[in-house]
Amino acid sequence: MRVIGMDLRSADICADLSTTAGRARAVEAARALCDNKLDVLVCCAGLGPQAEPVSAIASVNYFGVTALLDGLFDALKAGGRASAVVVSSSSATLQSWTDNPLRQAYLEGSEQAVLAMLEALPPEQAGYAPYASSKNAVACAVRQRAAAWGAAGVRLNAVAPGAVQTPLLEAGLADPRYGAAIRNSTAPIGARAQAADIAALIGFVAGDSAPFIHGSVLFADGGIDATMRPYDF
Ligand SMILES: NC(=O)c1ccc[n+]([C@@H]2O[C@H](COP(=O)([O-])OP(=O)(O)OC[C@H]3O[C@@H](n4cnc5c(N)ncnc54)[C@H](O)[C@@H]3O)[C@@H](O)[C@H]2O)c1
Repeated sequence: MRVIGMDLRSADICADLSTTAGRARAVEAARALCDNKLDVLVCCAGLGPQAEPVSAIASVNYFGVTALLDGLFDALKAGGRASAVVVSSSSATLQSWTDNPLRQAYLEGSEQAVLAMLEALPPEQAGYAPYASSKNAVACAVRQRAAAWGAAGVRLNAVAPGAVQTPLLEAGLADPRYGAAIRNSTAPIGARAQAADIAALIGFVAGDSAPFIHGSVLFADGGIDATMRPYDF
């Protein structure tokens, strides 16, 4: 098995997923390195609510991910029984985005419209709304593709973690705007996940042991979604 890593730096493919040019470079390089044949794609790169500029949060978390999904779909089809997993977040459902025009703008693929709407938000929503909306939209992007991808024999799912002990969470905890809210939001299972816990779920969902899991959003959040939305699933 060969693993191809992609990141801003120190990876097999160094590319900036916040820009159109970076995404094109990432797709082209990935296609070349896998010889147009991929078994598994995991879209994990993302920015937290504290990231600057805030426009990059939506650009990486939604437009970077969908560019990789769509750009590498042919390579996944060529892999036979391939699958892809996108990392969303439990924050995707903490508020409803159903009637919010932001969601429509994401799903129409209009990065300019999304960024303009995010720029118009009041300062107190500046980082959180781009994060939560991008994570909601990227989960919707998975479900929107379920019919076409399933028919092509490629499984596609989203994993939605709660708080995971990583540099992203540490940066949120250290940020005076978000630190207290993150500390106070404890999951029923009173601990934070480790990256390995989420990796294990991604490995399972992406692998041969989950042949019928497709188009799903799987929460790994210690029970937060269940307590916030007990009757929606
Ligand atoms: N840590 C949490 O509590 C938590 C909770 C829910 C969801 N998530 C999601 O999990 C995923 C992984 O996050 P993490 O917690 O490991 O964070 P992290 O900051 O440790 O890792 C994020 C990775 O994304 C890369 N990245 C950032 N901007 C990029 C860009 N423009 N182009 C290419 N790569 C870029 C970073 O270099 C880094 O390697 C993210 O999508 C995040 O939103 C994390």
